[in-house]
Amino acid sequence: MSSPLMPTGQSEPLYGGKKHGRVTVRDIAAAKARGEKWPMLTAYDALTAGIFDQAGIPVLLVGDSAGNVVFGYDTTIPVTVDDLIPLTAAVVRATSRAMVVADLPFGSYQASPTEALHSAVLFMKEAGAHSIKLEGGQRVAHHVEYLVAAGIPVMGHLGLTPQSVHAFGGFRVQGRGEDGQRLLHDAKALEAAGAFSVVLEGIPAPLAAKITESLRIPTIGIGAGPGCDAQVLVWQDMAGLSPRSPKFAKRYADLAGILGAAAQEFAAEVAGGTFPAQEYSYK
Ligand code: KIV
Repeated sequence: MSSPLMPTGQSEPLYGGKKHGRVTVRDIAAAKARGEKWPMLTAYDALTAGIFDQAGIPVLLVGDSAGNVVFGYDTTIPVTVDDLIPLTAAVVRATSRAMVVADLPFGSYQASPTEALHSAVLFMKEAGAHSIKLEGGQRVAHHVEYLVAAGIPVMGHLGLTPQSVHAFGGFRVQGRGEDGQRLLHDAKALEAAGAFSVVLEGIPAPLAAKITESLRIPTIGIGAGPGCDAQVLVWQDMAGLSPRSPKFAKRYADLAGILGAAAQEFAAEVAGGTFPAQEYSYK
């Protein structure tokens, strides 16, 4: 099946563009046709999602990375649909422009296209997600076709897909050497199945650039170099809240330092009896 998402002619830039109405798959297809690069961030709660929406981030992913940064697991494997539905609903409620992508967690789609449809429908009906993401290439191509036929926009995810960490023997860069051909084939299979975009995670930059040039749909890189159409980061890595972050994650702020200092100042004022002063008390 070919993608129904043909470029729509002139439209506003994805970043810094239209302020009213949600970003749609048509806007994303048009950005690829224009050669526009765009940013995506993860989001898991209302306050940060609202900030990113106001900042003009056009696509927000409620990633199963919530397993790491919200729930404190070592991997994304324990995450469930029930864990992510309330987070997704909060992100949808707090935003007015960003497209909200819900990640299908491990075990919620692999068994069959029908299982994938069941999970995707929960995210769309109960949380209001606008699209879903799932991991895998050729092996999930039928799942993608099935979802797309049901009217659900699908974002693919290839490379160092965290749900397969045990099969990879750890978090290791994928697609080196001959394995690169397999990833290119997987990317084309996702495009042919109707995916509107594909995340490329943890693969060599030249391979990501080659895949990007070979596809009509946009690639979204994370640890995949500058040749992708878009870039995504886990927001806690981007803003310096995570205690450790991977080599590819530039830290644009030091939120951990700022929060730690605020907590210490609060604690010192409480201990010293200077908080709350009169201005913070009711008469
Ligand atoms: O779960 C997630 O946050 C992701 C991104 C890192 C692409 O899959």
